Amino acid sequence: MTPRPLLFLAPMAGVTNTVFRRLCKGFGADVLTTEFVSAEGILHRNERTKRYLEFHPEERPLGVQLFGANPAHLAEAARAVIDWVNPDFIDLNLGCPVNKVVCKNGGSSLLRDCPLLASVAGTVVKAAGDVPVTAKIRIGWDAHSVNAVEVSRILEAEGIRRIAVHGRTKAQGYSGPADWAVIGEVAKSVSVPVIGNGDISSAAIALQRLQETRVAGLMIGRAAMHHPWIFSEIRQVLAGMPCPEPPALEQQWELIFLHCAKEIEWWGGREDLAMRSMRARLMAYTRGMPGGPRLREQLQRVESLDQVREIAGR
Ligand SMILES: Cc1cc2nc3c(=O)[nH]c(=O)nc-3n(C[C@H](O)[C@H](O)[C@H](O)COP(=O)(O)O)c2cc1C
Repeated sequence: MTPRPLLFLAPMAGVTNTVFRRLCKGFGADVLTTEFVSAEGILHRNERTKRYLEFHPEERPLGVQLFGANPAHLAEAARAVIDWVNPDFIDLNLGCPVNKVVCKNGGSSLLRDCPLLASVAGTVVKAAGDVPVTAKIRIGWDAHSVNAVEVSRILEAEGIRRIAVHGRTKAQGYSGPADWAVIGEVAKSVSVPVIGNGDISSAAIALQRLQETRVAGLMIGRAAMHHPWIFSEIRQVLAGMPCPEPPALEQQWELIFLHCAKEIEWWGGREDLAMRSMRARLMAYTRGMPGGPRLREQLQRVESLDQVREIAGR
């Protein structure tokens, strides 16, 4: 029997901390990854970096995603992470389009330099020993240099065990539709599992992508910020059942309150800091709710959970 395709929560900086990851796990996400963590930050024992590495045993299997460009530093960082937190896998970020990362040759910049990419992958794989190393790529640097198939073959040859492909080029950022034809090509070209990523916003789209390509799993990012129950919807549809109705408004607010409460706990009771960090999450949750614009205007200033309850009228 073919195994059920795995559902991954996409790593998202500033979003996928331990609290949000556990929430998505509760809805049926199979595999979680930390947001990207700087290899240099790890080597400097940076305090904020350590916080990015926090996770709860119930999150396993969990990967720590690293970015950087220096193979030796990345390898040392991978070793340090394995010693500190013993993740189930190390994930290499080979797709980040952010200038701060790209100008130091990290993230998607490595897609333009296949020899360096091979060196990064091979060195980290050796350093990680028994801990599997996976990678997350974009389909290329720009429309003239779409090279995801070539890059994936190199990664496979260097011992990378699974490849997530975001179907956009670096130049696209987050605009334009994700190119699932290229994702499908990659899935046909390598024997390691390929995870498709980009624009999966409903169970119907998830099913369609699985029918069109030979991917071993799907990775979901922005849709999970807006409706984290998408994982349970996809699971139900994959099991041959009809897509369930979305949670009623009342349940959606209960979820929001729970997320806020857990975030406050994670911040050690510093409610003001926790709620400031929740503001962007609240903006995403209230998209599509009745009275959304008015709600968001009020929620962008919240400092306490009581204020959220008051704004919600509950
Ligand atoms: C706010 C935000 C932060 C992100 N941070 C990361 C990151 O840390 N590492 C990474 O590999 N991708 C990151 N991404 C990209 C996502 O993992 C994913 O590839 C992209 O959003 C496309 O998937 P989607 O259409 O399901 O959102 C980020 C995306 C967003 C929107």
